[in-house]
Amino acid sequence: MQLNYKRPETMERITTPALAEAFIAEQIAEVREQVGDKKVLLALSGGVDSSVVAALLIKAIGKQLVCVHVNHGLMRKGESEQVIEVFRDGMDANLIYIDATDRFLDKLVDVADPETKRKIIGGEFVRVFEEEARKLSDVAFLAQGTIYPDILESDGVKAHHNVGGLPEDIHFEGLVEPVRLLFKDEVREVGRALGLPSSMVDRQPFPGPGLGVRCLGAITRDRLHALREADAILREEFDKSGLAAHVWQYFIAVPDMKSVGVRDGKRYEGWPAIIRAVNTTDAMTATIEEIPYALLHHITDRITHEVEGINRVLMDLTPKPIGTIEWE
Ligand code: XMP
Repeated sequence: MQLNYKRPETMERITTPALAEAFIAEQIAEVREQVGDKKVLLALSGGVDSSVVAALLIKAIGKQLVCVHVNHGLMRKGESEQVIEVFRDGMDANLIYIDATDRFLDKLVDVADPETKRKIIGGEFVRVFEEEARKLSDVAFLAQGTIYPDILESDGVKAHHNVGGLPEDIHFEGLVEPVRLLFKDEVREVGRALGLPSSMVDRQPFPGPGLGVRCLGAITRDRLHALREADAILREEFDKSGLAAHVWQYFIAVPDMKSVGVRDGKRYEGWPAIIRAVNTTDAMTATIEEIPYALLHHITDRITHEVEGINRVLMDLTPKPIGTIEWE
């Protein structure tokens, strides 16, 4: 655990590419000094924070950084592929990709309780990551995408660990947390200066348990697939219409229930896709974003025609409180 967790009052807010460049240069020197020629391990989820840390550390120590990306099978469409493309193909990173889809989905069969689902996903994540860490006997440091709000939220006592899992019982010489004093907008600015794509740096928040908390009740592979496809259509349409820049979080949830429909003159039973689109500043409360009806009609048309198993599209108009942002 590092001690320097208090942001100095004199620290300038990183609001421009030039300030981001200066921060990057400073961190590169600091990290090189800290780790020398030793290896550093990073759980790279593909979220903003771990992606920025990865790009920064690749610049600082190149192949001394070992990134492990665990695909728990609950990622959004194209997400793991993007991690590989950006980091392995684009930055020549030392990246270990683990497709643990079967392992997670097998453990989740018939598990309908939301909290149990979360525990299984979080616990399995730690185990998979630990197994990989143990195979890498020469790794000395653990890197983390801890950011300043994580520290503030945990009263500065200890770093808050986002779901993503940390090997609690593996000994590391120390932690490498280069963005620990930054706020989210600063992390994004640094990410842009490091050349990360906007689709990675400006992305909406995504929960650690991923689509697992949006495939409501007991997860099945066919319904998870339908959810992933419908969500990809929603994201594509929000991007195209410009709404993505104004709406804080938007996604699809698919409940474990079917209704009767008709397709090609035949009875067609399917699941409903529920659209949720909210705005908030701190995720403690949230309001409902108004989506133009024409766009909703277009999204409904696409989802019901393009996604196997979905025969209705519904809109969740519930603010937080009373509804949480996620359904589970
Ligand atoms: P709720 O559903 O509690 O969500 O209103 C508030 C925000 O937190 C995100 N969320 C999570 N993020 N791990 C995360 O990293 C989680 O387990 C988790 N659960 C919810 C949610 O997407 C929303 O942005």
